[in-house]
Amino acid sequence: MQFDIITIFPKILDSYFSESILKRAQLASLIKIKIHNLRDFTSDKHHTVDDTPYGGGPGMVLIIEPLYKCLKSIRRRKKSKVILLDPAGNQFTQKKAASFSKLDQLIFICGRYEGVDSRIDKYIDEEVSIGPYVLSGGELGAAVIVEVVSRLLPGVLGSAESLQYETFSGKKSDIVEYPQYTRPKDFKGQKVPKVLLSGNHKEINEWRKSKSK
Ligand code: ADE
Repeated sequence: MQFDIITIFPKILDSYFSESILKRAQLASLIKIKIHNLRDFTSDKHHTVDDTPYGGGPGMVLIIEPLYKCLKSIRRRKKSKVILLDPAGNQFTQKKAASFSKLDQLIFICGRYEGVDSRIDKYIDEEVSIGPYVLSGGELGAAVIVEVVSRLLPGVLGSAESLQYETFSGKKSDIVEYPQYTRPKDFKGQKVPKVLLSGNHKEINEWRKSKSK
């Protein structure tokens, strides 16, 4: 699956995507992440990406032309969607992630400042919010969606781990959660439960079930 992200802050995303699971998934060619710097699609000397809104009002608005040029430069795969990250968009959920994971490509436009020129609507498929709060821009939203969708793709996680969250709907009860411990066996008088050190897997499973929330 390919993710294309249009942003004016490519460095924020570069560092996030070059660690851990997403790094491994890229190295294994399970996903491809392309970050597009919106400033590369401007035509003036100052690489202007925003301007004051017609009609007045506070803040700056992202100009449509660089966005249009950038979108046009991206090769579209067969099943592809353009998403505008926006706090007023449709709520991103695990269910939505599952439907996105069936696509070949997701193209994200990271909104910034007070908004994006409304004429962008013609070029997007959906506005998506990652939660009921306001961020300074869509970059973190794009990172969240890339990570949640990638985790659903075959091979990105180990099979046991991937099955665990298949039915997650946002409720705690969808996760089999029991207390976990690792070294040391005694931390300032707090001891690891004996059963976990017993090597008796039947008893360990029963104990975990009894402790599951
Ligand atoms: N941009 C600003 N706030 C956002 C949010 N909550 N979700 C997605 N994009 C955003």
